[in-house]
Amino acid sequence: NKKGFIFDLDGVIVDTAKYHFLAWRKLANGLGIDFTHKENEQLKGVSRVRSLEKILEWGNKSIPEEEFTSLMAKKNEEYLGYINEMDASEILPDVERVLNFLAEEHQAISLGSASKNARPILEKVNLISHFHAIVDGNDVSKAKPDPEVFLIGAKLLNKQPEDCIVFEDSVAGVQAANAANMISIGIGEEEVLHEADYVFKDFTEISNEFLGQIISEQIK
Ligand code: G6P
Ligand code: MG
Repeated sequence: NKKGFIFDLDGVIVDTAKYHFLAWRKLANGLGIDFTHKENEQLKGVSRVRSLEKILEWGNKSIPEEEFTSLMAKKNEEYLGYINEMDASEILPDVERVLNFLAEEHQAISLGSASKNARPILEKVNLISHFHAIVDGNDVSKAKPDPEVFLIGAKLLNKQPEDCIVFEDSVAGVQAANAANMISIGIGEEEVLHEADYVFKDFTEISNEFLGQIISEQIK
């Protein structure tokens, strides 16, 4: 059997939330708006445009469209400064073991990320060659929880949605996987990701045996 395994990027393969936090906080503070870790949590899986809209809502601020556009560009410039310093040491625990196991089992592997920076990040951490397809924020018109990003991934892998398995750390991403009719595996807290078919704290808790059972449909 051959399945399609689709990985979210931020919070699944690498912990970039800390860099998004630093960049958004600088921007928010510059506008006189507070920005806490709790707010940053709510931006996980949320597109760049929507993130800035939310920050402005939280700060009760409205700005002209040109300023909005230039702030988005500034945020990304700041974020890319951190990304530039990334290397393979930032790959989250056991991600490589899982990718290698799936490759040995001849499974199809795709990325399914909302980020427009997905390719440079995968290159920085030296994982890009593990993926047969990459779908990122440049390829979609509808953000998670819309299933578009994962459905494109399935298509590129030549798989039916029901033969795909998605790894996601965000609620919107789990909802997107469910809406795509795929198996959803949440990476994070059970309380937060309870809509997922399975939840694990991180990849160290996902055994090759479990993956083998998914591949051979011993569990669904
Ligand atoms: C991921 C992250 C979000 C981020 C979004 C867009 O979903 O979890 O925090 O806003 O990607 O990322 P980008 O790199 O395009 O700004
Ligand atoms: Mg994520």
